[in-house]
Amino acid sequence: KNPPQETENILHGPPDPQKNEDWIKPLIYQSQGAKEFAYCPYSKFRVGAALLAHDGTVFTGCNVENASYNLGLCAERTTIAKAVSEGYRRFKTIAIASDLEDQFISPCGGCRQFMREFGDQWSVYLSKPDGSYVEMTVGELLPVSFGPEDLKKKTISVPILPHVVE
Ligand code: THU
Repeated sequence: KNPPQETENILHGPPDPQKNEDWIKPLIYQSQGAKEFAYCPYSKFRVGAALLAHDGTVFTGCNVENASYNLGLCAERTTIAKAVSEGYRRFKTIAIASDLEDQFISPCGGCRQFMREFGDQWSVYLSKPDGSYVEMTVGELLPVSFGPEDLKKKTISVPILPHVVE
């Protein structure tokens, strides 16, 4: 039998039927809807995201690529930027959808850091087109992270190296 996928079973396993997680299904469905708007003429890899804010508001987004390839935006970042630019900073969950048949879509490192800016204890649902998912916290996706709190911590003033001054 095939070995479990990287994200499957290791941390959380398949959804627990005893645990009521029905609320997540509409959010995953919305991330799949957002994927329909993906602008990805270069990669042809469609991604959608649906972000649930603290008060129940949902923001959706997709990847937005560019002819200058490196300027392309991931679905997660598009979505978070939409929410923040409308005054939202407290998030409960983000659901992510792609067309990968047999893999839970896994957010890129840059998006993990972008999520982490708004806390590491909220949840990320990595889904497949059939609606199945794996849930992980931002902290699990990006352990030992650097965040806004770190910028407020005690620093020491290190003397400037003489060869730099010269
Ligand atoms: N992409 C996302 O939007 N989110 C992910 O989680 C993975 C990758 C996009 C970026 C690019 O437009 C395309 O997928 C291929 O990398």
